[in-house]
Amino acid sequence: MAKIADQYFVLDPWKIIEDGFDPSYSQVAESIFSLGNEYMGVRGYFEEGTTSESLLGSYFNGIYENTKSTYTGYKGVVTEPHFMVNAVDWLYTRLSIEGEQLDINVSTIEKFRRELDLKTGVLTRSFTWILASGKRIKISMQRFLHMERAEYGYQVIQLVPENFSGVISATLGLDFNTIHAGRDVAYWQEQKKGFTEQGASILSQTISSEQRVYSGFELEINQDVVMNKLEQPQFIGYEMTLNLSEGQETTVKKMVTNVVEKKITESVESLWSRGEKVLALQKGLGYEKALLEQKTFWDYVWANFDIQIEGDDKNQQGIRYCIFQLQQTYHGQDPTNNIGAKGLTGEAYGGHAFWDTETCCLPYYLFNNPKAARNLLEFRYNTLEQAKVRARDLDCPGACYPIATLNGKEACDLWQHASTQFQPSTGVAYGIWHYVHLTEDKEFLYGHGAEMLIEISRFLAARGDWSPEGDFGFFGVMGPDEFQVMVNHNGYTNYMAQQTFDYTVEVLCELQRLAPTMYDLLQEKTGVSDDELNNWQKCSEKTVILQEKTGLFEQHDGYFKLPHIDIHSIPVEEFPLYNHWSYDRIYRNDMIKQPDVLMFQFLYNQRFTSEEKRVNYEFYEPRTIHESSLSPSIHSILAAEIGRHEEAFDFFGFATRMDLDNYNRNTNEGLHTTSIAAAWVNIVYGFGGLRSDGPMLLFNPSIPQSWDSYTFRVEYKQAVIEIKVTSEKVAFQVVNNHSVEITIYDQVYEIGTDIFTLTIPEKWRTE
Ligand code: BGC
Repeated sequence: MAKIADQYFVLDPWKIIEDGFDPSYSQVAESIFSLGNEYMGVRGYFEEGTTSESLLGSYFNGIYENTKSTYTGYKGVVTEPHFMVNAVDWLYTRLSIEGEQLDINVSTIEKFRRELDLKTGVLTRSFTWILASGKRIKISMQRFLHMERAEYGYQVIQLVPENFSGVISATLGLDFNTIHAGRDVAYWQEQKKGFTEQGASILSQTISSEQRVYSGFELEINQDVVMNKLEQPQFIGYEMTLNLSEGQETTVKKMVTNVVEKKITESVESLWSRGEKVLALQKGLGYEKALLEQKTFWDYVWANFDIQIEGDDKNQQGIRYCIFQLQQTYHGQDPTNNIGAKGLTGEAYGGHAFWDTETCCLPYYLFNNPKAARNLLEFRYNTLEQAKVRARDLDCPGACYPIATLNGKEACDLWQHASTQFQPSTGVAYGIWHYVHLTEDKEFLYGHGAEMLIEISRFLAARGDWSPEGDFGFFGVMGPDEFQVMVNHNGYTNYMAQQTFDYTVEVLCELQRLAPTMYDLLQEKTGVSDDELNNWQKCSEKTVILQEKTGLFEQHDGYFKLPHIDIHSIPVEEFPLYNHWSYDRIYRNDMIKQPDVLMFQFLYNQRFTSEEKRVNYEFYEPRTIHESSLSPSIHSILAAEIGRHEEAFDFFGFATRMDLDNYNRNTNEGLHTTSIAAAWVNIVYGFGGLRSDGPMLLFNPSIPQSWDSYTFRVEYKQAVIEIKVTSEKVAFQVVNNHSVEITIYDQVYEIGTDIFTLTIPEKWRTE
């Protein structure tokens, strides 16, 4: 793989540290030091302003703008895509002494250090600023976002003059003049602003999506100071002159409340007064209490969801960073939120959620926080109507879930993807199945789950077609391998649709038997009929799955006849290929972007024999260039399963440190948040050998040779199981007073609160 690690940050098990400032790394560091709490996210930009390269990004989950596509007049092609819009700079600060403005890029700076503490979620930056006059001042800045009281953000500025007493001019405010960098447009229109005694607030609205954000702050300063009100278009704040005494600390605390209104349901006045009330509550809580609550939140996360790796400092830091960022992006607060491919850390991918949510992210929540898993599925239920509209756009009944979205509508205006990729729809069905299979949440299944399944199957049955020979399948589609467009019988699409039909029929028959009244209600609501059920059953039975006698699946009809490319002959400089090869050139050979056949073998793993998995891995992996950051982890998991342990570890190398080491050379644009989830999946399913698609959980743990041990937890049937793997042994223990049956190395055991130990069998040894 054409990927090179670029280790810039200091290794530490619990911190991400930048020691010294390198302007060429400024945007990468901004992404890495992004903070989020599912509700909002803020990049690690320098709040005092900088002339170094910067993407000053502040985002809210579900706050977007619309734009016009240039492709109009083609039915089904998206004409008004939306994207997560850059919002208020609530950290806005400017500092100057004797007319000299602080700008880390040009000011003389010493002892620059930035630390993100994964145990508290607090980001700290400190440095000494040396003025032209030789005056030295130590500056520290801290920020954090409250993980539970999601509207709250905090900023602290500490100033300690080292060799002088004097004054510093400070401006602090809220700025809605933020430019959406990808489009070079400012999208906010101010509706109201005003001052309080020690604070100020501003409320703005987006231009075309008409969503609103209220932002307000209160200051706490450890000295009496005259604050001069400052108002500019889209801006409100204060200018002040702070007295500095040599060796003494001056502290400014800014407590910020941001309240969003995703859909206008109230007047400006009413949102304003709601915002002011929340701000008053924030003030009442106080900074120290908020910090304590923050610590309690993260203590819980690390006590329960941590993965400990002994003998590999890099991956230890890497996986903790992944868990940290995943929690920051999503922890199930609100069913109208989802997980963008870049989380809340940048503008790339428009902030959109993809099929990554159900296939790569869901397992993390299924095994750590089932309520969050359910909320992710509720997001799809809440956007079912939009999915139905999308199906109509594509001339079909039922529901077609978008390839990229924030609000449920399709946001991708590349028709090859938006009109021919159905993995979001089959992904939702898969997600429902996986969730219910593990949690047995029939209440969800018989209500929202079944309704979604009906609409998805309805769409699939209409979008699929019958060949003259009487076979069913999908024509003119693109599977997960985005290097093959308008193909017939793509293996992934056909296989996943078949599973969707089967599951829908199974669920509806179960409902007819066990909950006929609910079935009647569903029938009334959706119009589902016995004829439809019979048709879906027939579609499933007749679905074409192209497989040779050896067990090798053909990725699509005709794939084996495509011209072959030796992917290793492509010079490293030509990656990423989308930027260096014409779009159509990519489509004309057997090169694969990311797992397609291997993906369905991963998702429904136990339905395939070991031999089938080996044959397909050996055929497809050498043709795959892993241009999607999700690809290496899936390969790593399957490589571990078929005993290619070294290869599994090589692929894993990209997973935990994809962004910390900027492997894809684009961390500046934002984090690869869904790949971060895949890193967790990589350890737990790959080395831990977890499989969750059979009648009970099974584990086949192995351990990378260079590790001394690793430990992780999964919650299953209310039992929290801790698994520790060392080079010789595996130990299982339920840590919360339950017991549970699981399969380990092909044998069923009941695991309880006593530690249960086994020696790793020969087959799973990595030496
Ligand atoms: C991949 C998609 C994925 C998207 C967002 C693309 O590069 O091909 O499968 O959904 O990135 O992560």
